[in-house]
Amino acid sequence: MAKVAFLGLGVMGYPMAGHLLKKGHEVTVYNRTAAKAAKWVAEFGGSSKATPREAAAGQAFVVACVGNDEDLRAVTIGPRGAFESLEAGAIFIDHTTASAIVARELHAVAKAAGKGFVDAPVSGGQAGAESGALTIMCGGDADDYARAEPIVAAYAKASRLMGPAGSGQLTKMVNQICISGLVQALAEGLHFAKRAGLDPDAVIEVISKGAAQSWQMENRHKTMLAGEFDFGFAVNWMRKDLAICFDEARRNGASLPAAALVDQFYAEVQALGGGRWDTSSLIARLEAFSALQKP
Ligand SMILES: NC(=O)c1ccc[n+]([C@@H]2O[C@H](COP(=O)([O-])OP(=O)(O)OC[C@H]3O[C@@H](n4cnc5c(N)ncnc54)[C@H](OP(=O)(O)O)[C@@H]3O)[C@@H](O)[C@H]2O)c1
Repeated sequence: MAKVAFLGLGVMGYPMAGHLLKKGHEVTVYNRTAAKAAKWVAEFGGSSKATPREAAAGQAFVVACVGNDEDLRAVTIGPRGAFESLEAGAIFIDHTTASAIVARELHAVAKAAGKGFVDAPVSGGQAGAESGALTIMCGGDADDYARAEPIVAAYAKASRLMGPAGSGQLTKMVNQICISGLVQALAEGLHFAKRAGLDPDAVIEVISKGAAQSWQMENRHKTMLAGEFDFGFAVNWMRKDLAICFDEARRNGASLPAAALVDQFYAEVQALGGGRWDTSSLIARLEAFSALQKP
């Protein structure tokens, strides 16, 4: 069992840190909004600290799950950040969905001071974090990953080292690019089924046993048909992730025309007031627009 600090008790981090403690690790938490850290300690035990620097002192592992690149820089190399007290030999594991650039930057800073850094974004959403069944894609040095793997196993159903620093974030970008097209296609299929006068539930029951099957189809078609989007992975987060993908694609020359189009659709969902809706709300945009165009 290890001494672990967890920074960022949001939708994802709160249950992930809980799994670490339940596995028997000695867990210290930090959250910018202190009330959430107090709630976590009351629910799980462990202890909390007021700054990332205090939380990271004396730990073998420091784990983070914050919002974006700037948040990650704030809790690591910012004032009172974790890197001020992270000990030589300790490993920083980052679960934030961020750029490969910030992963490489923090890996270099950590290595220069004899510390480890593993970029380790996750897939599986809130449900995966709560049930401890996330998929974790990692980048970094093989020896650091080998030490980090048993720690993240507390909330992972699968984890894998994908290559050097930044490779975990690059793999997560692939994940988000694939999902963007899948969700739009599912939204269009369901929308068409309704317009065609079919029973959309019956349609899904049949086609989900064929080649069109997907996680999104299995897990989202019912709520899409019901127009329920107040849960899950927010459109604002998806646009943040796609912006990271486009930025990387500008550097590596990849062509992402469908993802770029879906990103514009998400901008329209935001304009409909759906910034915090689940990403499956693409169907709400189709329904809103086709209501205007109904023949
Ligand atoms: N939600 C999902 O389904 C999902 C799935 C896969 C990946 N992710 C990724 O996981 C990460 C976290 O997502 P989430 O849904 O847990 O987000 P969230 O609920 O908004 O939580 C964000 C956490 O980061 C903290 N934070 C943000 N900026 C900070 C700063 N500058 N300094 C210190 N702490 C800061 C927040 O503190 P406060 O409490 O003070 O605001 C909060 O604890 C994101 O990168 C997201 O893209 C999310």
